[in-house]
Amino acid sequence: MQTFLVTGGVGFIGSNFILKAREEQWANIVNLDKLTYASNPQTLAHLQDDLGYHFVRGDIGDIELLRNILEQYQPDSIINFAAESHVDRSILSPQDFIQTNVVGTFQLLEASKAYWEKLSLEKREPFRFLHVSTDEVYGSLGPTDPAFREDSPYTPNSPYAASKAGSDHLVRAYYHTYGFPTLTTNCSNNYGPRQFPEKLIPLIVLNALNSKSLPIYGDGQNVRDWLYVEDHCEAIYQVLQRSRIGETYNIGGNNEQTNLTVVEKICAILDELAPKPNHHSSLITFVKDRPGHDRRYAIDCSKIKRDLGWEPRENFDGGLLKTIQWYLKNPTWVEQVQSGTYQTWIQQNYGERKVALSH
Ligand code: NAD
Ligand code: TYD
Repeated sequence: MQTFLVTGGVGFIGSNFILKAREEQWANIVNLDKLTYASNPQTLAHLQDDLGYHFVRGDIGDIELLRNILEQYQPDSIINFAAESHVDRSILSPQDFIQTNVVGTFQLLEASKAYWEKLSLEKREPFRFLHVSTDEVYGSLGPTDPAFREDSPYTPNSPYAASKAGSDHLVRAYYHTYGFPTLTTNCSNNYGPRQFPEKLIPLIVLNALNSKSLPIYGDGQNVRDWLYVEDHCEAIYQVLQRSRIGETYNIGGNNEQTNLTVVEKICAILDELAPKPNHHSSLITFVKDRPGHDRRYAIDCSKIKRDLGWEPRENFDGGLLKTIQWYLKNPTWVEQVQSGTYQTWIQQNYGERKVALSH
């Protein structure tokens, strides 16, 4: 069986990928994760007796550590999920985003290229470095603009998006300059089990369950294209196994929704699964907008369908129901991620947004 080095595998998408990879026997996994605030080690606790799974705590920017891991585990491919990933945090403190997303990716590329150059021909040929990126590098769309394609220009607007754009450019350059066998995927907003509750969907679910207000930035008409995380993991695997080197693929859910609709759908599901005297939607509160808030993202994923036959399988209502059920069934996980620094963040991000906008 192959071995994949996965970075950031304790986070939301990486952990879903690892669980799927082990379940489907895609590969043995070495997971390098710094365990930042966004990760809960308990997420993968039940893999502790799995002989095909190894965890290393560390930073993708630590080149010595990378050399040792690559030497020891001799991975067949590398998948880079590790990143600072939350736009609001990037607005309040961009430093870590530059450090991990740009400098960290650079160090990972350097160490991986050096490793790849020394591989035997037999191992070198199928080796891939897959970099997981975002549609946010393409900027913001107007209401009738066509969806982002792989050849859409990069116009990142937030420090997060700019840092991811920087990392994408480095990955591209390593392919063009050195022939290093990279792949890049740019996906839309993911949702599903194990997402840290600073992102819209889990934040709204957990606030609603705790009878807290449901903050909607601005007028709630910003649009995101929601992709179920399991569909995303499948797509990554397909790209890894079957794509030509140097390619980039957009991965989306064919599922554009305004934020207000997303929140209303969550409330309707919770009214069924966890009824309260008042409808959950009575907690909706319009708050001060995010600075530079991108209006609309939409992904044209016809290239990955054409080349690799992948398309999203989950529909939004079904995916949302599964997601909410997962949070209801996993209160201990929720408690673990909501302790400590989470409270500080909520105060920092929402403390100053208290004034509800007239609407
Ligand atoms: P996440 O924030 O949930 O998890 C990130 C993980 O990376 C955490 O476990 C964290 O501890 C780890 N990490 C952070 N800095 C690190 C470092 N320097 N070294 C090693 N590990 C480090 O993020 P996610 O939502 O799982 O996103 C995974 C990837 O997908 C990211 O690259 C992100 O930019 C991209 N992406 C995410 C979404 C989304 O909707 N979640 C959408 C588009 C793209
Ligand atoms: P988020 O989950 O942070 O993802 P991204 O910024 O990467 O798209 O936010 C999704 C959308 O929801 C985005 O338009 C911002 C909005 N949003 C709110 O309205 N309220 C909130 O409390 C949060 C966290 C996000």
